[in-house]
Amino acid sequence: MPSMTPTTSPTPRPRTAEVRLAHTSDVDTATLKAARALLYDVFDDMTSEDWEHALGGMHALVHEGGELIGHASVVQRRLLHNGHALRCGYVEGVGVRADRRGRGHGAAMMDALERVIRNAYDLGALGASDEATAFYTARGWQPWRGRSWTFTPDGIQRTPEEDGCIYVLPTSVPLDLDADLTCDWREGDVW
Ligand SMILES: CC(C)(COP(=O)(O)OP(=O)(O)OC[C@H]1O[C@@H](n2cnc3c(N)ncnc32)[C@H](O)[C@@H]1OP(=O)(O)O)[C@@H](O)C(=O)NCCC(=O)NCCS
Repeated sequence: MPSMTPTTSPTPRPRTAEVRLAHTSDVDTATLKAARALLYDVFDDMTSEDWEHALGGMHALVHEGGELIGHASVVQRRLLHNGHALRCGYVEGVGVRADRRGRGHGAAMMDALERVIRNAYDLGALGASDEATAFYTARGWQPWRGRSWTFTPDGIQRTPEEDGCIYVLPTSVPLDLDADLTCDWREGDVW
């Protein structure tokens, strides 16, 4: 006879956010539109380039009551470091609707994206807002201490205003956090 499940009273479990992980190509237009609108609500200074930077990779999406309340994505970029063009999983568009924060949704989305980073990229990187640095450092992200640069159409240029704002998640490749880090070029904020 198969063993029976004990009939103890159920212990309430902490609610875990359900995260859908999907490539941009598998996210329908309405959901992408909702994600864009969410990020425009979350960030006062959101631009069309910022939204474009969040596309072309994997999105972590959280819905509640049929509405999108959380978004984050990871896209591939090349970062030049110590003479190597590293394959980087760059995190973009991390936001939870204001009235749904503090319930684990941000952590659940980052769990999903960090798994992608660990399994597919040489490192993770992101440009952190001042308000969110503690959120990332508590998860093992480390501030880049060296100088930041970018490949512009006119050659490599310094991005001094970004120094101190870049955080990395080391995975398989050894990193010297005090050395130079150069990102590929894009329109809008390069980091
Ligand atoms: C940052 C943000 C995504 C976190 O989402 P969230 O759903 O509120 O986060 P969670 O509830 O999953 O919190 C996970 C942990 O991080 C902590 N945390 C959350 N936001 C934090 C913040 N801004 N600073 C420091 N710690 C933070 C929580 O206290 C919690 O800690 P615990 O595990 O010890 O309890 C959300 O606050 C947000 O959308 N902020 C505005 C947009 C923003 O700054 N995005 C980041 C841009 S780089």
